[in-house]
Amino acid sequence: MGIEDASMRNGRALSDQWADSVVVRPRTTEQHITVHKRLVLGFAISILTLIIVTAIAITLSVSFERCAAESSGALAANRSSNSKWKQSRDGNISHRDTEDGQQPWRHLRLPATLRPRHYDLRLSVYMENFTFSGEVNIEFECVNSTKLIVLHTDRLEVEKVLVYSDSKKAGAMRIQRRFHYQPKQVYVIALHREMKPLRTYKINITFHAHIEHELLGFFRSSYVLNGERRYLAVTQFSPTHARKAFPCFDEPIYKATFRVSLKHESSYQSLSNMPVEASTSDEDGWVTNRFSRTPRMSTYYLAWAVCNFTYREAVTDNGVVIRLYARPDAIQSGSGDYALHITKRLLQFYQDYFKVKYSLPKLGCPAITPVNTSSEKRRDVTASYFD
Ligand SMILES: *[C@@H]1O[C@H](CO)[C@@H](O)[C@H](O)[C@H]1NC(C)=O
Ligand SMILES: *[C@@H]1O[C@H](CO)[C@@H](O)[C@H](O)[C@H]1NC(C)=O
Ligand SMILES: *[C@@H]1O[C@H](CO)[C@@H](O)[C@H](O)[C@H]1NC(C)=O
Ligand SMILES: *[C@@H]1O[C@H](CO)[C@@H](O)[C@H](O)[C@H]1NC(C)=O
Ligand SMILES: *[C@@H]1O[C@H](CO)[C@@H](O)[C@H](O)[C@H]1NC(C)=O
Ligand SMILES: *[C@@H]1O[C@H](CO)[C@@H](O)[C@H](O)[C@H]1NC(C)=O
Ligand SMILES: *[C@@H]1O[C@H](CO)[C@@H](O)[C@H](O)[C@H]1NC(C)=O
Repeated sequence: MGIEDASMRNGRALSDQWADSVVVRPRTTEQHITVHKRLVLGFAISILTLIIVTAIAITLSVSFERCAAESSGALAANRSSNSKWKQSRDGNISHRDTEDGQQPWRHLRLPATLRPRHYDLRLSVYMENFTFSGEVNIEFECVNSTKLIVLHTDRLEVEKVLVYSDSKKAGAMRIQRRFHYQPKQVYVIALHREMKPLRTYKINITFHAHIEHELLGFFRSSYVLNGERRYLAVTQFSPTHARKAFPCFDEPIYKATFRVSLKHESSYQSLSNMPVEASTSDEDGWVTNRFSRTPRMSTYYLAWAVCNFTYREAVTDNGVVIRLYARPDAIQSGSGDYALHITKRLLQFYQDYFKVKYSLPKLGCPAITPVNTSSEKRRDVTASYFD
């Protein structure tokens, strides 16, 4: 009602104004005519302007389309063999050609055309500037023929990509295009030739990234020892953060074996799921620890740490060594003893209860108890090693 009133009042007010401007003037026919002439002239001019603007717009759009057609024609010439998917010149993905299945990187799940079997991961960890660089070599099997390799990366700066086939033909396969698609956290590599089912392939990717101050991926934490701030770098991959540390098929269904090797300054030590298999020291104060191959498992079970912790250990009745790593002062004051003993008892209990032997040769667990960390954060980090 109120609205109607208002609009009616508005309408009346408008017509009143109109009446004022027209009616209040002296009613001579001469003036009437000039007013009409002006109105007609104004009307004609606005229509003319409209026509001109429309004409300009049409001309522009026609020439623009011709230009676009030319450039995409040129692009098409370059990728005549593969018109399955398109990208505009600036590396942006064109939204015109979106058809399901042709742009699998737009899907939430990875295309099920490839299956990883083994990861060889080498990382160099720079604690002085909180960065790391790495090289991953993924051995995978082709399930359905495809030209695309779609795997997860997030926050990683990918440098070099090489793809090899297991066939006799030596040398890398030609890569047509590769790009990061951030909305789905994937990296897409399009090959010139199709990969064939039942064949295995290898992909080498070099990359670098920051060790973020955040409890995800490969991150850093700190504590104060003797009035000095000390740093450590650890991982938290569950549920979907392995992709922040290395390119991988980061879905639990893609189980594979992993071999990790970590290079870092010798003032730090490194830990991972498996025991150290070989350790080499450079003369310049760097050490490379190579860990044994893990059992077949999901990416989020993988874990490693670069820290300066000490440990206390216990051995279960059937010989599994349990080590609890923590700050030297925490170990000395016995803060880790309860966790160590309860872990030993729990492990024994579960082995008896399920009648399944613990499948790894050791159980290591860095317990981070920085002065300023909440108990929730502590549980998270510990969990990645207990899993
Ligand atoms: C085709 O691609 C090559 C290298 O990617 C580039 O040098 C060349 O200019 C492209 N040709 C056309 C017609 O775009
Ligand atoms: C790609 O397109 C989207 C939207 O169409 C735009 O927001 C983005 O800036 C574009 N990126 C590049 C690199 O042109
Ligand atoms: C792979 O190929 C088989 C038959 O050749 C088909 O049934 C299946 O749906 C394909 N899978 C994918 C992920 O394309
Ligand atoms: C960090 O330090 C390493 C080794 O000193 C160096 O190779 C790397 O480029 C540095 N990264 C950045 C981002 O400064
Ligand atoms: C690919 O990666 C594997 C394992 O990291 C390495 O042994 C091999 O030399 C790499 N190949 C190339 C060409 O970089
Ligand atoms: C690690 O601890 C040792 C002994 O406590 C110390 O000498 C060394 O400087 C520490 N290294 C780092 C990187 O904090
Ligand atoms: C703990 O955190 C607070 C605020 O986040 C900071 O002011 C304080 O210096 C920190 N203490 C230590 C020992 O790092």
